[in-house]
Amino acid sequence: MKSYLKWPGGKARLAKRVESLLGGGTRLVEPFVGSGAVFLNLPFASALLGDADPDVIGLHRAVQQDAEAVLAEARALFTPACNDKEAYRRLRAEFNAGGQSPAERAALMLYLNRHCFNGLWRRSGSGAFNVAFGRPASPEIPEESLRAFAAKAAGADIRHQGFEATFAALRQGDAVYCDPPYSPLSATSRFTGYSSPFGPAEHDRLVALCADAAARGIRVVLSEHDLPAVRERCLAAWPAVRFETEQVRRSISCNGGNRFLAPELFAVFEPISLAAAA
Ligand SMILES: C[S@@+](CC[C@H](N)C(=O)[O-])C[C@H]1O[C@@H](n2cnc3c(N)ncnc32)[C@H](O)[C@@H]1O
Repeated sequence: MKSYLKWPGGKARLAKRVESLLGGGTRLVEPFVGSGAVFLNLPFASALLGDADPDVIGLHRAVQQDAEAVLAEARALFTPACNDKEAYRRLRAEFNAGGQSPAERAALMLYLNRHCFNGLWRRSGSGAFNVAFGRPASPEIPEESLRAFAAKAAGADIRHQGFEATFAALRQGDAVYCDPPYSPLSATSRFTGYSSPFGPAEHDRLVALCADAAARGIRVVLSEHDLPAVRERCLAAWPAVRFETEQVRRSISCNGGNRFLAPELFAVFEPISLAAAA
């Protein structure tokens, strides 16, 4: 099932693969939950979901708390009158000004997500959402998938926090899936589509935390671009790391029309006991 939120790097199609790599556990932990596409498709009874983006977490929490209130607000925005450039700009400015109730803000974000160019979520240096109008033909409220998320997330712990704080909350029996902004494929392709910067220092810290969790007996699966530097970084931090790949369709930078197949890497940080037994 697809998430109700369009999000760069959505992983709905890889969820089954992630499930088999995680190999069980009592609680799913996603430090980079994004649209929640993986969470939505995995059969865990409990979950800890984190993300550094305040609005994506605000949206998930509003849907979790009262999906019908978000849908009611959204119905006033998904109208032919609001599907033009002027209305879009006015609503984008309203969103950036803030001050709405959680349900109003969630509906505004849903509107922007479905009416902006390519479902991008990008902010200016001052933090304002600044993606242009996408001229959608007939945008619809994703009612079914939004309700499905609300039902699945009823008991989930959804937190606005950086990945370090989510790793700090790990406990035995957790299964951790990390889908961070990826390392750039080339020195010139720096665009990630997300709101916070994520560079080599963040990747180093993340891989060290994956290794630390594995050393405590907790399995972590990390998605990344399949680059020699990425494999080296993982191996240096955790020599027992196992690599698996999958060919996925990608789009270059912010031009969603420019698609190609690229190998996606899964780095599986096996806990020490499993690695020793292998
Ligand atoms: C690739 S997306 C996740 C995609 C998600 N798995 C899905 O299927 O839609 C990466 C996410 O990392 C979040 N992020 C960026 N920097 C972060 C940080 N330092 N800590 C936690 N989350 C961060 C972004 O807001 C974004 O939602």
